[in-house]
Amino acid sequence: MNSNSVGHPSRLPVAVIGAGGIGRMHVERMLTHPDVAPAAVADPSEAARAWAASLGIAWFADPAALLDATARHGARAVIVATPNATHAEVGLACLARGLPVLVEKPVADTLASAQALCDAAAAAGLPLLVGHQRRHNPVLQRAKALIEAGAIGRPVSITAMATWLKPDAYFDLAWRRQAGGGPVLINLIHDIDLLRFLLGEIVGVQAIASNAVRGFEVEDTAALLLRFANGALGTVSVTDCAVAPWNWDLAAGEAAHYPQQDVDACFIAGTEGALTLPRLQRWHYRGARGWHEELTREHTILHRRDPYVEQLRHLRAVVEGRETPLCSGRDGLRTLRATLAVHEAARSGRPVTLPAA
Ligand SMILES: NC(=O)c1ccc[n+]([C@@H]2O[C@H](COP(=O)([O-])OP(=O)(O)OC[C@H]3O[C@@H](n4cnc5c(N)ncnc54)[C@H](O)[C@@H]3O)[C@@H](O)[C@H]2O)c1
Repeated sequence: MNSNSVGHPSRLPVAVIGAGGIGRMHVERMLTHPDVAPAAVADPSEAARAWAASLGIAWFADPAALLDATARHGARAVIVATPNATHAEVGLACLARGLPVLVEKPVADTLASAQALCDAAAAAGLPLLVGHQRRHNPVLQRAKALIEAGAIGRPVSITAMATWLKPDAYFDLAWRRQAGGGPVLINLIHDIDLLRFLLGEIVGVQAIASNAVRGFEVEDTAALLLRFANGALGTVSVTDCAVAPWNWDLAAGEAAHYPQQDVDACFIAGTEGALTLPRLQRWHYRGARGWHEELTREHTILHRRDPYVEQLRHLRAVVEGRETPLCSGRDGLRTLRATLAVHEAARSGRPVTLPAA
């Protein structure tokens, strides 16, 4: 039994399965979190064992062994931070033991396995959350509230940028050079979730993609056209092979390993005003309207909150029945469906239609 979890009865013990890059980020935030504490980790790698030992956290090579030992380490929820193809299997095992699950994005690697995970959570009456942490950023929450309050009128036109340079060493891992390992499924999925969170369902996707710069099997660049159920139209650019600051990670500075840039990455124009994100600038007419008239810019600077820390607070609140998931399994499924539609549209050269509900 470790001193970080059940030794602090006021903190909810949470287990983490998969202690690589993001799994460790979650655990490291739990160490000083007021609401949750790391109960145990499962990850077969020697590096994960040594890391868990260095923190005094119970370690298991096998997720099943961790789940069998819940009575011992006291976990009341599990974060699944394993490779995409294992999310469904590991998540189902957690649900079968009666444990609520926060699964990292994408919710699963296929729509069928994502649906199976959602169905299992519903059948068990257990919460299933998906780690699209941007929804917990105060900037996005304010933007959503502004849009819903009519601050920009009817959303009409959205432009989003996801353009950066990944270092060459990133591609040393073979799966990142192969189909499914590229910026659409790894990164753009967060932007698609952000747009769905702000503007509602995406009902139409057109796309073109290219691998011309890196020459790998996977795309390095794509351009999208989106149609939203509310009638708004969007354009999105994504590339991981160009030198550019215009992307959410660099602009929002959610993780310290990204040097924050003073730029926007998302531009939303409506019939009454416009909003840029993440700098949260709002443009509107105070008097007469029209492109010859004075346009007012308001710039709101919010208190910063780490969305990963906030996501952990929310996880506890959901487990204790005080909140409903901000990003449910169904949200993760619909975000995955729209993201996979980008690949389908680029491959076929045809628009893809998605259901509005
Ligand atoms: N929300 C975010 O900001 C964010 C950021 C990065 C990654 N992710 C997602 O998190 C997941 C993990 O990504 P990562 O970058 O941490 O990968 P990673 O390769 O750094 O870590 C994955 C870890 O899982 C372990 N593992 C593999 N199979 C396992 C199993 N069956 N049981 C237990 N452990 C297992 C590996 O040993 C490895 O340590 C991916 O789904 C990724 O899309 C989310």
